Amino acid sequence: MTTDTTPTGLDALAAVERDARAGLAAAEDEPALEAWRTTVLGRSGALTGILRGIGALEADERKAVGQAANALKQDLEAALDARRAQLKAAALAGAEPIDVTLPGRPRRIGRLHPVTQTMRHILDILQRLGFAVIEGPEVELDEYNFDQLRIPKDHPARDMWDTFWIAEQEGRQGPRQTLLRTHTSPMQIRYLETHEPPIRVAVPGRCYRYEATDATHEWMLQQVELLAIDEGISLADLKGTLHEFARQVFDADTEVMLRNSYFPFVEPGVELAVKFRGQWLEIMGAGMVHPEIIEAAGYDPTRYTGFAAGMGVERIAMPLYQVDDIRNFYQNDLRFLSQF
Ligand code: PHE
Repeated sequence: MTTDTTPTGLDALAAVERDARAGLAAAEDEPALEAWRTTVLGRSGALTGILRGIGALEADERKAVGQAANALKQDLEAALDARRAQLKAAALAGAEPIDVTLPGRPRRIGRLHPVTQTMRHILDILQRLGFAVIEGPEVELDEYNFDQLRIPKDHPARDMWDTFWIAEQEGRQGPRQTLLRTHTSPMQIRYLETHEPPIRVAVPGRCYRYEATDATHEWMLQQVELLAIDEGISLADLKGTLHEFARQVFDADTEVMLRNSYFPFVEPGVELAVKFRGQWLEIMGAGMVHPEIIEAAGYDPTRYTGFAAGMGVERIAMPLYQVDDIRNFYQNDLRFLSQF
């Protein structure tokens, strides 16, 4: 076999180039480009085969074919890059245009629940009035929730708070009856046990009542208890504090009324009501701390006096946010909650 007839000459190179260029023009996507690269420029590709065979050629032909083959290799690599860029440009041109001036889609961000907002508003005011904020347990002992607040077992006053009872707990002094606190007033007793007058505290927290719900009653409610004990505190201090509180918590033109009421742990007892949609809505109970409670805590009730109050946070949120049914607050309906 002579070198003139071997397929590794310039003719063969020209054939490889023809096929390669046709193949590249026909490649329409990245996998096709990659397959083309393998068959032409890959390790066992057509052009690579020619380059490998150069060593077997006659010296003069070897030079000519070698130069041409190397030049073709570079050409084809450049052609591959150009074809790839061309396909990319075509794909972009066919894609849906993006209008970068359009506003972005807004993210829905959370917000504070209206009762939380009301609670913060209330505590801000009370702290400015000089009350320190403290908290107490939601699972409470019968003694603190009732007995020590002068609400003995089997006393009709217990009917004022329908109770979620919890199974008896084994305490150090034997079994103790627990419940979900029906009000924040037990913290009056707990705080007096461990602190000396002068006392001025605000106690926010959840309370629970086993009762039928209606537009102004929920089985779970939030309260803020106030307790102020010192020498010389009088009913005038209670009235002044509640008046100032009401003036700050509502709009200045909101009508409020203080009226007589009864709670076993205060004497006298009062309640504060607010005019909402033509009716008086009770927002808190209050009164002068009963002397027996001060005495039981170890203080002389002729020297130390004080006032206490327990406000309903949802009841205050109702006129504030114009909500006429308390049950709306805890239904978790975003159509309602996202309004505030
Ligand atoms: N604890 C009472 C209630 O929940 C409110 C209250 C608190 C009344 C303090 C007087 C003094 O109904």
